[in-house]
Amino acid sequence: MSAAPDGPAAVRVLGLRLSSPVVVGSGLLTDQERNIRRLLDAGAGAVVTKTIHPSPGPSGQERLLRLPTGMLNSTTYSRRGIDEWCAMLRRFADDALPVIASVHADSPEELAALAARVTDAGSPALELGISCLNEADGLHDTPERVAAYTRAVRRVTPVPISVKLAIGEHSRERIDAALAAGADAITLSDTIAGLAVDADTGEVTLGGAFGYSGPGIKPLVLAEIYALRRAGLRVPVLGSGGVRDAADVAEYLSVGADAVQVYTALHTRMHTTFLEIREGFDRWLAARGGTVADVVGRSVTRTGEESDAATRDERTPVR
Ligand SMILES: Cc1cc2nc3c(=O)[nH]c(=O)nc-3n(C[C@H](O)[C@H](O)[C@H](O)COP(=O)(O)O)c2cc1C
Repeated sequence: MSAAPDGPAAVRVLGLRLSSPVVVGSGLLTDQERNIRRLLDAGAGAVVTKTIHPSPGPSGQERLLRLPTGMLNSTTYSRRGIDEWCAMLRRFADDALPVIASVHADSPEELAALAARVTDAGSPALELGISCLNEADGLHDTPERVAAYTRAVRRVTPVPISVKLAIGEHSRERIDAALAAGADAITLSDTIAGLAVDADTGEVTLGGAFGYSGPGIKPLVLAEIYALRRAGLRVPVLGSGGVRDAADVAEYLSVGADAVQVYTALHTRMHTTFLEIREGFDRWLAARGGTVADVVGRSVTRTGEESDAATRDERTPVR
């Protein structure tokens, strides 16, 4: 599919000029060069890699469970080594492809070292995948933790950074901490804790609470982005959660997301599904007329204001 980086669907996010606001989110499907290239060929505005981690831990614990409203997954990080990832990222950079490296590590210092390596390999932007709840001891995310990881990365790389967070408790404080520490954008949301139980035996299906994604989380993420925009948050947001079709993309943009990530839906017919969403959005936009900028934030009436349309282009973070 031909990219049109200056067409009506084009957006500028994380310093990248993307042909579409529809981006592929991080996950198992973005752990392979072949998949990433196929998704870009299907028109992805950008692709976020599976989260790269210097010590991803033992394999074999990774399971997916499909639910009527989405998916539970117990996966964590890529098993590929950093050298292998850096060689892959270099090939993407040489081909000028919009591939965003997702990175995490066991400490802010380790993450800074990894961020420096992937920057040297040519990654044009980073997403900090610091909010995975599938680790052995779960996720106890705090503004201090978010700030420490973000600050460490900010010190070592000039490329734009999006910090990926999960919706939920103290989300505004965590977002503000990321921004104060130097983040350029926020990706919202990572998976949220979900549990499945066998009704007959009472057995907890995956052995605990793990990452819940897919259509069931979409209203929750929409509500949070809407509330953040109404409260005056100006920083670019990449919306993520439950997108299955062009209408879902339009909904995310309307509540104030600047770009939209798709992941779980791609576990069915990966690049064909992506192509349908991307082309469906292009058709929706063409039928409506105008550009993506006309759609972003159109549902949002700021508290105490008629509309934020006049000011929505100012993306200076509230600190
Ligand atoms: C199987 C699976 C693996 C995932 N792996 C990652 C990951 O490595 N890093 C990350 O930041 N998010 C990961 N995610 C989260 C997705 O990128 C996405 O943010 C989340 O699933 C919500 O969007 P969705 O409903 O479109 O999937 C994963 C999700 C799933 C279902």
